[in-house]
Amino acid sequence: MCGIVGYVGERKAAEVLIEGLRRLEYRGYDSAGIAVRENGKVKVIKTRGKISHLETLVQQESVNGSIGIGHTRWATHGKPSDINAHPHVSGAVAIVHNGIVENYRELREELEREGIRCISETDTEVISHLVAREYARCGDPCEAVTKALKNVEGSYAIVALFEDRNILIGARRGAPLVVGHGEKEHFLASDVTALLPFTRNVTFLEDGDVAVVKNNNVEIFDSEGMMVHREQRHLDWTPAMAEKGGYKHFMLKEIHEQPEALSNTIRPRILQHEPYITLDDLPARELARSNRIVFVACGTSWHACLLGRVYMEGLAGIPSWVELASEFRYGTTPIDENTLVVAVSQSGETADTLESVREARRRGATVLAITNVVGSTITREAQHTLFTWAGPEIGVASTKTFTAQVAALLLLALALGWHKGRLDKPALKDITQHVLEIPRTVHRALEEESHIEEVARRYFRYQNFLFLGRGLSWPVAMEGALKLKEISYIHAEAYAAGEMKHGPLALVDENMPSVFFLHNDHTAVKTMSNMEEIKAREGKIIAFSTFTSEKLAALADDIITVHLEEALISPFALSPLLQLFAYHVAVLRGTDVDQPRNLAKSVTVE
Ligand code: AGP
Repeated sequence: MCGIVGYVGERKAAEVLIEGLRRLEYRGYDSAGIAVRENGKVKVIKTRGKISHLETLVQQESVNGSIGIGHTRWATHGKPSDINAHPHVSGAVAIVHNGIVENYRELREELEREGIRCISETDTEVISHLVAREYARCGDPCEAVTKALKNVEGSYAIVALFEDRNILIGARRGAPLVVGHGEKEHFLASDVTALLPFTRNVTFLEDGDVAVVKNNNVEIFDSEGMMVHREQRHLDWTPAMAEKGGYKHFMLKEIHEQPEALSNTIRPRILQHEPYITLDDLPARELARSNRIVFVACGTSWHACLLGRVYMEGLAGIPSWVELASEFRYGTTPIDENTLVVAVSQSGETADTLESVREARRRGATVLAITNVVGSTITREAQHTLFTWAGPEIGVASTKTFTAQVAALLLLALALGWHKGRLDKPALKDITQHVLEIPRTVHRALEEESHIEEVARRYFRYQNFLFLGRGLSWPVAMEGALKLKEISYIHAEAYAAGEMKHGPLALVDENMPSVFFLHNDHTAVKTMSNMEEIKAREGKIIAFSTFTSEKLAALADDIITVHLEEALISPFALSPLLQLFAYHVAVLRGTDVDQPRNLAKSVTVE
């Protein structure tokens, strides 16, 4: 968590830093700060609260320097407060940090024995003292940072500013950091979205790298201290892609971007000639020889994996398991060299997922990453990567990247099914015609928005919800419950509809609405029986469905339908409905939709 940014050049650093932080705010938003060097002094402005509050404080002072660092925080050690906000200053040095210093207590005690007192509750402050101590000894910024970081256990991306130098030092281990290249100016940031208004030429640092960043050049040293060349890339994301574009919230914009995001993920991979599916340069034939597949991910990406498993077993016939990354890394799931581990992470930076990738590789498995972020850590840790081309997602609640992940998993299952000989040409051709319909199906679902808003108005005051579905609609129900919880703070629980009678049915009364997801296959009739059970206990029912019938209409108090024959792609018809429902409920409750309390988009801590 946390977003960091650095600038050295000819512009007013404060303006660049605030603009960059605004774009990183999704990474954390409980406090923020900047440090700018001017007239040989480091000026620090930091505060509890959001970037807008920091911006007001910065405008009240005149901050003219052209080199500085900034930070937006998601608290791990120490509550959100002015004093715990970054940057942390010690002597001639100011530091911003993203990550966790695991041995900060020992380091703190060591510093205290030397008479250096920490004034904040953060783990980061020790880094500032360590760097300042080394800098006082050697007078060299790069050497000071390198030596100081040798004492640090845990993860970090840091940027250091020195009161007597026109130089920034960036360093990373286990947390992302990217250098942006401009004309007589350079940038550092946790994520490229912070750089988009200024440059699209970037270099992703690798673990252990230390970058010496000046206005006119950048030098990078690896963990052995050797100067290294890291490839510079040109990004095709535009600044507008990371802006609201007239929508009230990023989340709403991203929900509506799904047809395009899905087109980008799907269309280039479906060829009009054999073998129909191409997964960039993935060795699909080789991957299809795997004995089994273990999917690992967290949160929404984990829900995508649950759908991926259904596709993989149904279309490719490869036995598949789905694991939460936070459990997998400490668990006993059998893994060997015949296992394909598919690690799914929108950001490519989720700590638990990255550690699962490392653990899987240690145990000999082949790892395929599915991610939305070019240059993210997971792309370097896994042997293979399949990108979702959904564009930047800023809202903390994942929406377009979820459906893009599900599409990528469906394509993967089709490619492996083909290479395994489970799908013949007519079958593959038939399914791909449906897959090509996905963007249009999502578009039709989005046309239900005003209807969904009406339904949201009837239900937004309820405090508890159940989300229910069977088969492919069960993971969809789980995603529905998560969306509602995270942005509206309403308690919502998801169950496989058939499980209700084994306990949760006891919860049902007139104050506990149930949201059902139904798609057109053999599960539908069973799901409707479960609806009967709810109805019999005076539970209110909202149905999101891909079909209508008299029976369904009689059971549901409210029903929204996106007609679709093909069950396989039903998650793409139903997901926009649950996203819009959660969105409108949250708006009616007046919550902070894009930056819900206690959360951050990129979870780079364990
Ligand atoms: C859900 O809306 C969240 N954004 C969250 O559950 C997210 O999916 C999870 O933290 C995993 O993130 P990742 O896909 O970037 O690894």
